[in-house]
Amino acid sequence: MIRFAFQNNYLKTCLNPYHSLISKKRIVSISIRTMVTIVDIPKLKDPSLFKEAGFINNEWTNMGVTEMFPVTDPATDKEIGQLPDMGANEVKKAVDIAHHAFKSWSQTTGEQRHDLLLKWYRAIMENVDDLAIILTHENGKTLKEAKGEVAYGASFFQWFGEEAIRTYGSVIPAHVPGQRYVTIKQPVGVVGIITPWNFPAAMITRKVGAALAAGCTVVIKAASETPYSALALAELGKRVGIPPGVINIIPTHEHTKEVGSELCTNPTVKKISFTGSTAIGKLLMSQASGTMKRVSMELGGNASFIIFDDADISNAIDATIACKFRGTGQTCISANRIYVHKKIYKEFSTALVEKVKKFQMGHGFDDKATYGPLINSKGVEKVKRHVEDAIKNGAELLVGGKHHGGNFYEATVLGNMRPDMLIHNEETFGPIAALFPFDSEEEVIKLANDTPFGLANYFFARDIGRCWRVAERLESGMVGINTGLISSCYTPFGGIKESGLGREGSHVGIDDYMNIKYINMGGI
Ligand code: SIN
Repeated sequence: MIRFAFQNNYLKTCLNPYHSLISKKRIVSISIRTMVTIVDIPKLKDPSLFKEAGFINNEWTNMGVTEMFPVTDPATDKEIGQLPDMGANEVKKAVDIAHHAFKSWSQTTGEQRHDLLLKWYRAIMENVDDLAIILTHENGKTLKEAKGEVAYGASFFQWFGEEAIRTYGSVIPAHVPGQRYVTIKQPVGVVGIITPWNFPAAMITRKVGAALAAGCTVVIKAASETPYSALALAELGKRVGIPPGVINIIPTHEHTKEVGSELCTNPTVKKISFTGSTAIGKLLMSQASGTMKRVSMELGGNASFIIFDDADISNAIDATIACKFRGTGQTCISANRIYVHKKIYKEFSTALVEKVKKFQMGHGFDDKATYGPLINSKGVEKVKRHVEDAIKNGAELLVGGKHHGGNFYEATVLGNMRPDMLIHNEETFGPIAALFPFDSEEEVIKLANDTPFGLANYFFARDIGRCWRVAERLESGMVGINTGLISSCYTPFGGIKESGLGREGSHVGIDDYMNIKYINMGGI
C-alpha cells in the first residue's frame, strides 16, 4: 500500500509540469526568455542503462548492420548517440526469436509473469532518475515531467502484473443436455509494437505490460527520435529475469516504413499495437489486413475543452494549462480547441494569459524551465502554420506566438478563434491554447463533435444535468469532467471514430492481447 500511495502522489505532481506554477503559494515571476540557457547534461548513476545497440534475444547486438543513425537532443540538435539502422531482415529474425520464446513464455503461469512484471516495475522505480535523464535528453520534456512519465510508465507493469493472475474465462449454461460450455483466454502470440516519441517510456510499458501479462512476446519498433528509453527499459527487464526472446527492440530510422510493413505483413506476428498518427494507423491497418491480424490503434485526436458559464473558473484555468501544455502540447489528448462561454470569456482569457506569461521555456535539464522544445523542425513548422493561419484570419494573439529558433516555440494563447481556422480541424501538437467563444450548450456540442477524431474531450461545468448530458453526447472514447488529466493505468485509454480501435490500460487492456476460446464438451 505504501508503494501505491507513493506512486499516486508522484504521478499527481509529476504528470502536471505546471504544478509549481498553478499552486498559488508558489507562483514565481519569470518571463519567457528568448535564449535557452546552456545546461550541463546530468550524469547517469548507472551509465550501463544507456545502450547503443538493438536488443534481440536478451543480447545487445547490431545484427551485422553497419549503417548507423544519429539520435539528437531536440533542445540543442546535438547528437546523443548512434544506433544501427535495422530493416526488414532484422525484423524477420527478431520475429522468429519471439515466436520461439512464445512457446515457453505462453506456458508460464500468470503468477510467474506477475512476479517478473512487479520486479521490473520496482527496478524502474529504483532507476527513475536515470531513466528520466535519458528521456529528457532524447525527448526534450522537463526532467520533472520525465520523472512523472517514468513513474506513469512503470505503473503499467505493476497494474498488468496484477492482472496477469486474473485472466478469467467463463462458464456458460448449456442449452443441450450432456454438454458443458466454457471459455478460456489465451495469448494471441507474437505482437508487433510501434511506439511514438511523445511518451518514450509510457507508450512502451502500456503495451508491453499488457502483452507480457497475457503471455505474448513482443518485437518493438521504438520511435527513431527516442529509442534510448526503450532500450534502457529492456536492460532493466533483462536484469530482473525476463527470459530471452520475450522482448526484442529494433532501432530504425531510414528503414522505418520497411520495418512497419514487415511487422504488419509477417504471418508469424498475430497482432499489431500502434500509437501514432491516424494516417500511419490507416496504412498499418491495411497492411495487417492481409494476414487478418488483430490491431490496436491509438491514433490522433482533436480534443475539445469546454468551459461552461457555471464552471469553477480558477480550477478550469489550471486544468486547461495542465491538459494543454503537458509535453509542450505534444500529446494526443491535449486540448486542441478550447471553447469558452461568452459570459466568462473575458475573465477566463485574461487570467489564463497571466499564468501563461509566467511559463519559462528552456532545456528540459534547466530546473527553471516549465516546458521544453518541440521534437523537431517539422513540429515547429506545423505550429507556425497553425498560428499564422489563425492570425491571418482574424484571431487575436494574446501572448506568445514566436519561434525562438531551433525547436523552441513560445507557449501561446490565441483568442477569438473560429471553426473555419486550421486549428479547429487539425491537431496542432504544440503549445498553442486556442480559445473559441461560444453561446449555447447545443452549439458547443455540435462544434466539439465536428471532427473525424474522437479520442478525448473535456468540459468544466457544475450543473449535474448538464454534466451527464454533455458527457454522453460528446463523441470520444474518453471524457474529462472538471479535470484536465485523465490518464492512468487504472482507466481505459482509447478512441472512437478515426482516433482508433481498442483500449489500453485498465481491467480491459489485457483482453486486447488475448483470444477467447469457446470449448464445448459433449457426451457427459
Ligand atoms: C498520448 O498522447 O498518446 C498518450 C497520453 C497519455 O497517456 O496520457
